[in-house]
Amino acid sequence: MSARSAAEPGISLAARTALRRALLRWYRRTARDLPWRRTRNPYRIWLSEILLQQTRVETVEPYYQRFIAALPTVAALAAAPLDRVLQLWSGLGYYTRARSLHRAARIIVEQHGGEFPRTAAAWQRLPGIGRYTAGAIASIAYGEPVPAVDGNVRRVLARLCNFTAPLDTQADQAAIWKQAERLLPRQSPGDFNQALMELGARVCTPRRPQCPDC
Ligand code: ADE
Repeated sequence: MSARSAAEPGISLAARTALRRALLRWYRRTARDLPWRRTRNPYRIWLSEILLQQTRVETVEPYYQRFIAALPTVAALAAAPLDRVLQLWSGLGYYTRARSLHRAARIIVEQHGGEFPRTAAAWQRLPGIGRYTAGAIASIAYGEPVPAVDGNVRRVLARLCNFTAPLDTQADQAAIWKQAERLLPRQSPGDFNQALMELGARVCTPRRPQCPDC
């Protein structure tokens, strides 16, 4: 079955306002204290988002810390040989991520004078950065009001909006992103995107979601 049309309102205006407020309050009270949540440094946020693709938070944390200690800036990453980057990535899998990260660092340094892109659209032109990762980086590091829909967020939104599974057509995907855009607050979009991720990871889980808590 396909999702309901994107033109239909998923959640009413009043419910969206209440939901934003409640979700942000919950996130600020209970969010896990993760190293990449203590910074707005775009290099660190970019790195964390690449590491977190297909990989659990607990697995990522030590890799993130080691990577930042070894290659603390985009200039250091661009100057490092690829072998060094792959060595720091060793054991994580999905090595294309590491290669793309390294290529993107060289593009930023060699073609953009070491300046990071400032918008999701510009981030998305770099290797290894799709719509989700671009949205996460731009909202968290720069406060750009753009959504970031990963697997967890997709599930949360699908349940909130009563979409039906499996949401695998392009039209379904577009409808989910549309709902994410409508829900996103102009203020604190980075916290809000992470709050949706957090809800999906801890409460609105794939099996046995804690619906009464939510
Ligand atoms: N997964 C992807 N990005 C994340 C983030 N910023 N915090 C927690 N989990 C994530």
